Amino acid sequence: MPSLSAEITARMVAVTGADPELRPATKTQFGHYQSNIALRLAKKTGRPPREVAAEIVNALNAAGFDDLAEPIEVAGPGFLNIRLRATVLARAVSAVIADPQIGLSIRDMPQTVVVDYSGPNVAKQMHVGHLRSTIIGDCLARVLEAVGNNVIRRNHIGDWGRQFGMLIEQILDEGLDLDTLDLSGAEELYQRANAHLNADAEFAERARSRVVALQSKDSCTIAIWERLIEVSLTGFDASYARMNVLLTRDDVAGESSYNSLLAPVCADLETRGIAVQDQGALVVFVPGFEAPAILRNSAGGYGYDITDVAAIRQRVEELHADRLIYLTDARQADHFHKVFAVAQLAGYLPERVSAEFVGFGMVLGLDGKPFRTRDGNTVHLSELLDEAEQLAAPEVALAAIKYADLSNGLQKDYVFDPERMVTTTGDTGPYLQYAHARVCQILKRAAAEDMAIGTNVTVLSEVAEIELALALTRFSDVVDEVALALTPHKLCTYLFELASKLSNFYEQCPVLKSVDALRSSRLALCDATRRVLARGLNLLGIAAVERM
Ligand code: ARG
Repeated sequence: MPSLSAEITARMVAVTGADPELRPATKTQFGHYQSNIALRLAKKTGRPPREVAAEIVNALNAAGFDDLAEPIEVAGPGFLNIRLRATVLARAVSAVIADPQIGLSIRDMPQTVVVDYSGPNVAKQMHVGHLRSTIIGDCLARVLEAVGNNVIRRNHIGDWGRQFGMLIEQILDEGLDLDTLDLSGAEELYQRANAHLNADAEFAERARSRVVALQSKDSCTIAIWERLIEVSLTGFDASYARMNVLLTRDDVAGESSYNSLLAPVCADLETRGIAVQDQGALVVFVPGFEAPAILRNSAGGYGYDITDVAAIRQRVEELHADRLIYLTDARQADHFHKVFAVAQLAGYLPERVSAEFVGFGMVLGLDGKPFRTRDGNTVHLSELLDEAEQLAAPEVALAAIKYADLSNGLQKDYVFDPERMVTTTGDTGPYLQYAHARVCQILKRAAAEDMAIGTNVTVLSEVAEIELALALTRFSDVVDEVALALTPHKLCTYLFELASKLSNFYEQCPVLKSVDALRSSRLALCDATRRVLARGLNLLGIAAVERM
């Protein structure tokens, strides 16, 4: 079943042949939806807009549009104000009770969408950048799945590279027991190895040979490398569990998983003249970029660029992706755009596949500077959570962090302000949880007192009631839009407005104190709101708690 706005749109397209570009009316006293179609058509034909508007209204009436809407009003220069019939609105909200996902649909066909997110690095704890990537990616993956796509999550962990030379040498030098090593231990090891590398040329030389041993699959070297990965994954898993995100071990496809694809990509691009030798390295010059993409460096090593090119090829050719989405902080924009360009030149990224880089801004401290710990280090995920959990229960603290991360335009930096983020008043995650918990409590009380909770909304007469109902029928449109434009903040805004309309409804319309059919209808409206709030919170990755 299409959403209400989709139904109106389809009917208007049938009559006018053009997209009405429906907008929710700013105030319900002007109607529920507005269209500027008459203005646009009038401009094309050079006719007076109000005349065109009147014609469209007549044509819609003749086509039976009035079974959906009250008589259409032509406003101002020729806007069409559409007010849905109460019965139509009631039917649409009732459908939401049966299935809050009603009408969720992608505009075209379901797609295979690869979402590349989180991507922490072995032997390092996740930092705030990975935290944002994980939260945003998880939300987008949920939304894309909800509208019917086949979503493939890819956790592109940094599990390959020169750093493993020094890490492994340091382990051997110290005789470190790998069975007792955990992620924070591995991170300390990283720092010791790095210091050692800078201070000791002989060690640096050994680290270099160890990289060669790793590349040539020396069994003792590989065993230690694998152990380091396992230690790190165990640490990441603990973070994912704490964050309540969907990533699993099956989603891990680290840099090393593309190793066998790199030489063929180089050969392919070199023979076709797309890649060229430049000072001993194999590179691709991409128009519009200062530095070339590096496929193989002069020492014969492969790096970040080529790995992503090979990953694109694999995702398109083997996973049959229609859409590729990447989430890292905005500073990697250049890397991804360059890699997309190379893949396009190579034909690995055909035009039918869209590649989208979603870069996000930084997390700032209260001082407006990039967020750091007291001793000036980058902040770990666990420290952020610990800080928020000093002010609220874990589920609420997590909601606070996730909502703060998702509710601004992604590109913007935002200030990590736990005090503000955990309040249950204002535009916060906990406020939404509170709204959900409150409506749950009302429904519980009604059930405890044996009141009938309608499965249909039958009465929509008060303004607050109508506005709440109308908002509920828009849920699927919003989710659809987020899936298309990758803008989680729109879902946040929607849910925040829905929660505000719910609280307005409580103020204006008695629920438990009303009687009979009215009470049953209002309880049904509460139930529909509960479902949409729960579903919406779930899409944000936030727990819909029943009590606060
Ligand atoms: N490991 C990278 C980092 O920490 C992020 C990986 C992003 N994904 C990708 N396909 N390059 O910056």
